[in-house]
Amino acid sequence: MASYTLKINGKQRTVEADADMPMLWVLRDLVDLRGTKYGCGIGQCGACTIHLNGNAVRSCQLPVSAIGEAEITTIEGLSEKGDHPLQKAWKEHDVPQCGYCQAGQIMTAAALLNRNSRPSASEIADASHGNICRCGTYNKIKAAIATAAE
Ligand code: FES
Repeated sequence: MASYTLKINGKQRTVEADADMPMLWVLRDLVDLRGTKYGCGIGQCGACTIHLNGNAVRSCQLPVSAIGEAEITTIEGLSEKGDHPLQKAWKEHDVPQCGYCQAGQIMTAAALLNRNSRPSASEIADASHGNICRCGTYNKIKAAIATAAE
């Protein structure tokens, strides 16, 4: 066990954890941010996607000891009141069905818009195709990302 001071959603949080503890479990179990979801645990589904310095990363594959000074953003920190353009577009398009994958979907889309504010349809498809949705809401996800980018 060691002590790690992390920048999470703009706040300093200190946790005691094993060096190889994935950030997914640091977030969910040590700092009580449960919006980030466990899907596969092997980097294949995208449910656990968070931002590391604005880039989408899979938190199940990211050990706490690798974070250092990097800024972590979770779905809880994406906007103050759930009013990020993507969150508004998600509501407008009524995207979620079961909802389980949606935090990861939105964080992946937000990272895309961070680096490309006007993505094409194929860029949206490329960016989001690695996030699995068991309800098959893919068309609505892509439409909502396009709306958020308008
Ligand atoms: Fe991390 Fe599936 S839980 S990619």
